[in-house]
Amino acid sequence: MADLQNLSLSTEGSILTITINRESKLNALNTETLAELKEVFQSVYDDKDIKGVIITGAGEKAFVAGADISQFSELNEMNARKFAEAGQEVFQLIENCHTPVVAVVNGFALGGGCELAMGCHIRVASANARFGQPEVNLGIIPGYGGTQRLTQLIGKGRAFEFLMTGDMMDSSTALNYGLVNYVEADKAAAVEKAKEILGKITAKAPIAIGLVVDCVNAVFNHDENGYQTEANAFATCCGTDDFKEGAAAFMEKRTPEFKGE
Ligand code: COA
Repeated sequence: MADLQNLSLSTEGSILTITINRESKLNALNTETLAELKEVFQSVYDDKDIKGVIITGAGEKAFVAGADISQFSELNEMNARKFAEAGQEVFQLIENCHTPVVAVVNGFALGGGCELAMGCHIRVASANARFGQPEVNLGIIPGYGGTQRLTQLIGKGRAFEFLMTGDMMDSSTALNYGLVNYVEADKAAAVEKAKEILGKITAKAPIAIGLVVDCVNAVFNHDENGYQTEANAFATCCGTDDFKEGAAAFMEKRTPEFKGE
């Protein structure tokens, strides 16, 4: 992997932590950071030793305060669709990843930051987290999937309100609305919670976990029959060694040892 300028990576056991590392700009996502995220996730797809991913922002103040507004002067009607599609592609890569991805949201998650968190499978927030899609304040709308995923996660009426007012949501409201799974006192506690969740998931059969990702995402793909996807995925699981191991371990009253095969 080429030298990363805007992300820092650390690995503990089988868990990779990706930190968006532009603290002086509240970790705003410039095009270079997005490109690095894409590169890192492409490598996660190929790396069987990585069994879980945490994405967070450097420092305590912000997860990601949005796309980098300083690059917005380059945008026009001709090139903006590609700009949006490039961000959407990266967040779809995250959403479709068979390795579980947890966002640890430490502070502001605005615009592209809220969209990045929503592209992850699970979100754990610190108490100081603030979520929002403030694009309307700039005369635009979200372009990295925010109108779709916010509606999926909190429902149509609430999504309309936050997308139209640009208001920020505090962490307890985000929990109440189902935008986050957990709120913890601070970033350190949120990281611990994320590790606890990933510890449970990584003890399961990896092929089954990956197929859960496909099936849940199928709900939101209008070209796909999710029930058919589920039946096919169920059949795939039943052909794995891990299924034999899981059933045998249950009968033998022992902990299964899954190999991802
Ligand atoms: N893009 C580029 N730079 C950003 C940024 C963004 N989305 N968000 C924050 N920054 C930069 C600021 O310009 C500032 O840089 P500077 O010190 O060189 O002037 C630095 O990060 C700190 O931000 P600042 O605004 O001074 O912090 P604050 O505590 O006063 O306010 C926010 C925090 C998050 C409320 C405010 O930064 C903000 O509204 N950011 C933009 C949020 C947004 O609209 N995101 C969606 C973009 S589509």
